[in-house]
Amino acid sequence: LSKQDFAHRLMAWQAAHGRHDLPWQRTRDPYRVWLSEIMLQQTQVGTVIPYYLRFLERFPQLADLAAAPQEAVLGLWSGLGYYARARNLHKAAQTVMAEHGGQFPQQAEMIARLPGIGRSTAAAIAAFCFGERVPILDGNVKRVLCRAFGVEGFPGERAVEQRLWALAEDLLPATGVGRYIQAQMDLGATVCTRTRPACTRCPLAGDCMALRDGRTAELPAARPR
Ligand code: ADE
Repeated sequence: LSKQDFAHRLMAWQAAHGRHDLPWQRTRDPYRVWLSEIMLQQTQVGTVIPYYLRFLERFPQLADLAAAPQEAVLGLWSGLGYYARARNLHKAAQTVMAEHGGQFPQQAEMIARLPGIGRSTAAAIAAFCFGERVPILDGNVKRVLCRAFGVEGFPGERAVEQRLWALAEDLLPATGVGRYIQAQMDLGATVCTRTRPACTRCPLAGDCMALRDGRTAELPAARPR
């Protein structure tokens, strides 16, 4: 499977079988995409949707969020859990107002300096909203790459994670990075799932090393103990 084929197969699959109607798709407003990515970090799509819509009703623009008292932000987060996410979101909105003149930064490298935004989330925002050609590496993508390319070792380990970043960078298509990233997210969430992956529906099945070797249950490797 060539690097180009990998991306193009995923993108063709995304067009036919991926998700296109989630409330945060079809917008390039970085505030909305950012909010969705933060909510989706530890919470499933079905749970996030009503929270996301309520949050935007109360805070339609980043400036509204920045100006709100912290209790109001935490109140809208109540039930989602991982409240550090909400506190960082609020702090980052204030940082954008104070240090970026209210304009959300457009490069992944700049976005990643905001509180609560890691390298992968910053890349997703930059790719979706501004078309920057940068890889993401969240839990779903790690799983897809480990299985498809037979990457050994625990992905939470530094050396393994570095290998995965390099691989993710290498696999980026020349154009259409937003669609490609959405394809990776959707494949990981709906087909290449942690338990009982639906390999019969996978566009990579013919070339997946884990499937070929009957090792989808063993890759990615668990935390060593
Ligand atoms: N999980 C994280 N980001 C997502 C996105 N943009 N769409 C669907 N699920 C996601």
